[in-house]
Amino acid sequence: ETVEWAAESYDMGGHDTYMHKEIAEQADAVDRVLRGRIDERFATVHLGGLNLDAREARRMRRVKILGCGSAYHAGMIGAQMIEELARVPADAEPASEFRYRNAVVDPDTLYIAVSQSGETYDTLAAVQELKRKGARVLGVVNVVGSAIARETDGGVYVHAGPEVCVVSTKCFTNTAVAFALLALHLGRIRDLSVADGKRIIEGLRRLPGQIDEIMRAEDDIKKLAADYAEAKSMMFVGRVRGYPVAREASLKLKEVSYIHAEAYPASELKHGPLALIEPAVPTVAIVPDDELLDKNRATLEEIKARSGKILAVAHQEQEKADHTIVVPRNEVELDPVLMGIPLQLLAYHTALALGRDIDKPRNLAKSVTVE
Ligand code: G6P
Repeated sequence: ETVEWAAESYDMGGHDTYMHKEIAEQADAVDRVLRGRIDERFATVHLGGLNLDAREARRMRRVKILGCGSAYHAGMIGAQMIEELARVPADAEPASEFRYRNAVVDPDTLYIAVSQSGETYDTLAAVQELKRKGARVLGVVNVVGSAIARETDGGVYVHAGPEVCVVSTKCFTNTAVAFALLALHLGRIRDLSVADGKRIIEGLRRLPGQIDEIMRAEDDIKKLAADYAEAKSMMFVGRVRGYPVAREASLKLKEVSYIHAEAYPASELKHGPLALIEPAVPTVAIVPDDELLDKNRATLEEIKARSGKILAVAHQEQEKADHTIVVPRNEVELDPVLMGIPLQLLAYHTALALGRDIDKPRNLAKSVTVE
């Protein structure tokens, strides 16, 4: 049993697929998630439905984020943002794993369920189990009034608008931005300085324009896709902030093009997956200009030494890479929001080159409402 959008009832707005429409809509979608929430005076954001007061936000000792598929990957980004900006230990876990492992439910942990549809059974079941055990659970959800939105104690709406394509693009991006807002909010209640709060707010404001800038590189990415569509398998690597981006890009490519792909933390390459590297297995590397740039460059060298082809997504041209998609710089904490977008386009154009059923990939459903 699956929930289907009444796909025909949404206008494609001149695009050939919903996936393309939804990728192209992201600047507007990000604008929506920010709208009315920024509080300049206190260098923070207002999240009306959060239902978590300052005392509770200060008292919590941990954050645990739960979701499935792309929502889980957005949660991985969220966990890092919360840990970086609010300095609370945070991690993400697939909701399905969490609910089956009889996890210890800790009263000092804030639980956050992430879901586009708000109806994914595994995520809902995790929420219900947590609530039954007395936990505080928030939702980061797109569909207003959905089951997860109703069953959580409060949360942040993602405001991506309806997402029709089975694979998530704009909702993934907006969820990452919603987490940036939550991390900023929690950070400013805890120890994030006014200066850092302002820095993040300015970064958030730059996002829509920078997304448009990335979209202007679409023709170049389309050419790259024609080339990478011949790969028998692809490797996606990134470090720390770049790792969830690699995970999501790998998932996107698999879902929509059916090319086998793996994602690894770049640091783990040498512990096994390097054995797979050869000319027919290209690597997509996430290489932001952050404190790990030198480490990432060393990874590119290791791959080149095994004659692997490399596509880098970076803030500047990478010498060791065969191709670089240059994305605009923002604040490092917000890098994951932008770096995934060109890889959505790569997945899309690869699938198009291979003649795939882009909006309805085989074997997949938009929302999995059964076990
Ligand atoms: C399905 C979809 C994925 C999605 C996941 C979670 O598996 O095919 O694209 O990420 O469910 O969906 P949710 O609605 O909970 O975000």
